[in-house]
Amino acid sequence: MQKFVINGGNRLEGKVKISGSKNAVLPIAVAAAILGDNVSVLHNVPNLTDVNTLSAVLEGLGASITRKNGSLYIEPINRMEYEAPYDLVRKMRASIYVLGPLVAKLGRAKVSFPGGCAIGPRPVDLHIKGLEHLGAKVEVKKGYIYAQAERLKGSKIDLFGQHGPSVGATANVMMAATLAEGTTIIKGAAREPHVYDLAQFLNAMGADIKGIGTSTLTINGVKQLYGTEHTVISDDIEAGTFMVAAAMTNGDVSVEGIKPQQITAVSKKLIDAGIQLDWYDTGVRVTNLGELKAIDVTTAPFPGFPTDMQAQIMGLLSIASGKSTITENVHTDRFIHAAELNRMGANIKLKGSKSFIRGVPYLSGAPVMASDLRAGAVLVVAGLAATGETTVSRIYHIDRGYEEIEKKLNNIGADIERVNTDI
Ligand code: UD1
Repeated sequence: MQKFVINGGNRLEGKVKISGSKNAVLPIAVAAAILGDNVSVLHNVPNLTDVNTLSAVLEGLGASITRKNGSLYIEPINRMEYEAPYDLVRKMRASIYVLGPLVAKLGRAKVSFPGGCAIGPRPVDLHIKGLEHLGAKVEVKKGYIYAQAERLKGSKIDLFGQHGPSVGATANVMMAATLAEGTTIIKGAAREPHVYDLAQFLNAMGADIKGIGTSTLTINGVKQLYGTEHTVISDDIEAGTFMVAAAMTNGDVSVEGIKPQQITAVSKKLIDAGIQLDWYDTGVRVTNLGELKAIDVTTAPFPGFPTDMQAQIMGLLSIASGKSTITENVHTDRFIHAAELNRMGANIKLKGSKSFIRGVPYLSGAPVMASDLRAGAVLVVAGLAATGETTVSRIYHIDRGYEEIEKKLNNIGADIERVNTDI
């Protein structure tokens, strides 16, 4: 196992380049490997354990995947397996993405039912409902989802769930519908930048998807999809994390490779908290002009404030002057990081899906533990801003979604080291 040892207190200054989006590359690689009839090449692919885990799932199904520099070469094979086993799926929930494409392409799928995780129960009822509307017979038995259909048939489907649209269900059903017979209309579709990028990729493969970027997608089924070349969109959550890191360290950091429309809600809240953002052609310069101000944040599906930035903004608000609140509307149990921030001197109280943050003048370094990807990210960022030494353990969570985080941070003035540990 490894941990990060951080000596806090340095001001971050300089330029940082954002990597390709983890949440975009995962479904895009699935589409390339299962739906495509020949090789696809994906550029700007981050080197992350989640990408490696998904590659193992896809190779288990029969695809062949090679990484060269920042690109993935994905070769689907004709005779595919249709089973994604528990041992692989349990490592990463996004493996559920293979369900729809397998039924669409092979007529059947057997995918281990994904469990909950540190951020809550995370059901897959909308994925199943969507596929059933396309005519698949879906059964859950002995920990597996079995889905079967001779050929999927276009249909009208509303994917707006209890917590709003679902990124995963939209992606899964949209991929399946590309090869269905006839037209599918998905209402209540998720509009996140990574869903947009997936839809663009599918159209480049020969799909016919209209309404991309809106909450109604119209998909005219086609008979075949072809391999193509695509540059993955940059990671808005990684960008947001570096923006918060700059803000919390009184920094002056240019975050390169992000567009304002990918990150509008986060930008707005940072400005409200007193941060200056200057957009230029290829990125944004983030400067902290002095005191951080308390604000109220409510997470919501895109274009709302992303749940994947909730932990990081909580870190920032823990040292903002005044009382802030955060309401978590997407993954309502996602607050494990609050207790770790409190160990560093923050004053955060939780009540249901709300957190109440009374800003403290500074955080103090402490040994803390990452419980999930974004909860890990906030502890790193908090450690950079804190006085003294912070050690963050279980950093395998962070490696799932941040490419070379310590290298990128050290390049802009941080003091953070990756250290091997016994446990
Ligand atoms: C994706 C992201 C994750 C992010 C989340 C919300 C990937 C790989 N992961 O996860 O980082 O936190 O979007 O932006 O892209 N829901 C149901 N039934 C379902 C599916 C979801 O009720 O069948 C609920 C969930 O419990 C949650 C909400 O809908 O409350 C949104 O979840 P969803 O958008 O599906 O998240 P993921 O796709 O799993």
